[in-house]
Amino acid sequence: MKIAIGCDHVGYQLKLHIIKYLQSQGHEVVDFGTGSEERTDYPIYGKKVACSVANGETERGILICGTGVGISLAANKVKGIRAVVCSEPYSAKLSRQHNNSNIVAFGARVIGSATAEMIVDEFLNAEYEGGRHQRRIDMISAIEAGEF
Ligand code: RB5
Repeated sequence: MKIAIGCDHVGYQLKLHIIKYLQSQGHEVVDFGTGSEERTDYPIYGKKVACSVANGETERGILICGTGVGISLAANKVKGIRAVVCSEPYSAKLSRQHNNSNIVAFGARVIGSATAEMIVDEFLNAEYEGGRHQRRIDMISAIEAGEF
């Protein structure tokens, strides 16, 4: 799978770990920065990853900041993005199956690398179930379009 990844300065070290983990599984990773632990602003990277996923350049996105909150808030401002913050793998799995999430975010100050790997596994392997869930996704899209 072709995966976009981004982080701020707090998430940088965990991002390096996750990039290696994804590559060891044969995924193609597009890294949208940041490229060091120098202080920066998470909306820059939330937007870059979200635009890449929204325009179809990449299939899914992974975002990391201190908590996963700020960077996911930024990503969710891009049309078509359903970014979820997860601190455990069950929510990541259900976010795919029920909510058709296309970006997962987590916090380097909240979880360790082993939990992050489990979250990524569920996020990449679980499939959207459609069916009764589609009506609710359509409602979310209608809110985004100002129609609901
Ligand atoms: C940066 O200090 C911190 O605010 C950021 O990494 C993130 O946790 C924001 O939600």
